[in-house]
Order: sequence, then C-alpha cells, then structure tokens
Amino acid sequence: MGKTIYILNGPNLNLLGHRQPEIYGHDTLADVETACAAVAAERGHAVRLFQSNHEGEIVETIQAARQDAAAIVINPAAYSHSSIAILDALNTFDGPVIEVHISNIHKRESFRHHSYVSLRADGVIAGCGVEGYALAVRRICSLLD
Ligand code: DQA
Repeated sequence: MGKTIYILNGPNLNLLGHRQPEIYGHDTLADVETACAAVAAERGHAVRLFQSNHEGEIVETIQAARQDAAAIVINPAAYSHSSIAILDALNTFDGPVIEVHISNIHKRESFRHHSYVSLRADGVIAGCGVEGYALAVRRICSLLD
C-alpha cells in the first residue's frame, strides 16, 4: 500500500533558488517537491513537503509524522548544527530518516561539519545539489518496500 514520506526543510530554504544560487543552485522547493513526488510515485508512494524557519514548528511536524508518515527526508539547514530538540523529536520517530544537505557541508566552514541530526539519520546525502532529495526518496522507497 502507498505510504507517505515527509520532506522537511529548515530555515531559509523557502528562498531556495534565490538564496546564494552559487551554493544552492537555481531550483526552488516546488521543483524539489515535483522531483520527489515523481520518484515516490514510481513506487506507489506519496510525498508531503514542509518548510519552516521555526525550530518548534519543525519539532511539531516531526511529531505529526509519527501518525502520518512512514519515513522522513529532512534538510534541517542551519538547525542541523545546533538543534538537540530536532534530534530528540526524530528519536521519537520509528521509520527511516534520511538527512539531506544540498551543499557538501564537509567542504565548508568547520561549524557546518557537525550535525546533531546525523546521530539519528539512517543515511546522509551531502553535496549532490537538490538532486540529493530525490536520491533520498529513492533510498527511502527501498527501505520501505
Ligand atoms: C544546508 C547546509 C547548512 O549548513 C546551511 O545552514 C543550510 C543549508 C545545505 O542544504 O547544504 O541552510 O543544510
């Protein structure tokens, strides 16, 4: 049966496509949603994409995923490097979690090298541009099927 995959995005990713395109590219979150929906549909699944600039809202969406979603793809953006609350929320979620970073965080400033979310993530994709989201959905589908 088809399952729902949440695609969660943290702060400033609402500006994707316009924000520092030399780092994050020209595609928007709407483009990301279209690409992920196509990959999920091939396997009979569906995606729901969320973005918030607020840590608490991301925590609440992860809590909602406990009832609503079979898996989570998350780009926590800057909260990756600071948020124990998002890590704790993900630790209450039983399904697969894949962490995505559009840029290669390991090639950037040292404060981006550590991610709290990686302590929970079943897989991490970094530096593959926005294609990383679709790759993450493909991996999630393999884990779900
Ligand atoms: C990011 C990397 C983070 O360090 C940064 O704060 C972001 C985006 C990425 O997708 O490459 O906002 O998560």
